[in-house]
Amino acid sequence: MFIVFEGLDGAGKSTLIESVFKALQKMQIDCLVTREPGGTKLGENIRNLVLDPSTKLSAKTELLLISAARRDHVEKLILPALKKNQWILCDRFWASTSAFQGKARALPMQQIKQMNAFSTQGIQPDLWFLLDISLQEKEKRSLRRGEVSDTFEMQDQHFHQKVREAYLELAQKDPKNWCILNAMHPVKKLTQLSLQEMKKRKWLR
Ligand code: TMP
Repeated sequence: MFIVFEGLDGAGKSTLIESVFKALQKMQIDCLVTREPGGTKLGENIRNLVLDPSTKLSAKTELLLISAARRDHVEKLILPALKKNQWILCDRFWASTSAFQGKARALPMQQIKQMNAFSTQGIQPDLWFLLDISLQEKEKRSLRRGEVSDTFEMQDQHFHQKVREAYLELAQKDPKNWCILNAMHPVKKLTQLSLQEMKKRKWLR
C-alpha cells in the first residue's frame, strides 16, 4: 500500500506518520517512511536547495527541481518498495506540486499535470490523507515553534490559503482515494482515524 500524507506546513504530518508507522510495525507490517522533496540523496540535496530562501528560485525552476527530486524518489525508493510489497508512508507527493506550484505559484495547471505524470511514471497512491488545519491554527503553531522560515513558510497568508483550497479541492473531487482528517484532533485520535480508514478498505483486520 502506498499512503501519502498532505497538508499545510505545521499540520502535524510527520508526527502522525511516525505514530501510524509504529502502529503498523506492531501489526508486523513491513513499512517504509519517506518524504518529498527528499527520500534519496539527490532528493534531500534538492530539498535543501529549494527550501533555502537564499537560492532565490523562479517558480518554474522550483517546479523542475521538485519534479527531478520526485523522479529520483520514484525510481530509487517508491518502485522498489512496491515491488517488495512494502507499505509506504510518504510525507507529500504530487498533490503538493499541484497545490504549491500550481495553485499558489500560479503555474499553468496543464503543465503541472504533465510534469507530475512524467515524474511519477503514472504511479498513484492507494490512499491520500489530508491533514486539514485553518490558517489561524497554522499561524499559531508556527509562532509557538518559533522556527526559522524556509522558502514556503515565509509566504503570506494568501499563498497558504491557496494551498489549503487546492488540497480541499483535490480531496473533495476524489473522495474514494482521499480522506480528510481534522488536524485539531490529538495525534492519538488521528492515528485511530487513519487506521480505521485502512480497516474500512480491508487492508487491516
Ligand atoms: P515539509 O515536507 O517539511 O512539509 O516541507 C516541504 C516543503 O516543500 C513544503 O513547504 C511544501 C514544499 N513542496 C512543494 O512546494 N512542492 C512539492 O511538490 C512538494 C513535495 C513540497
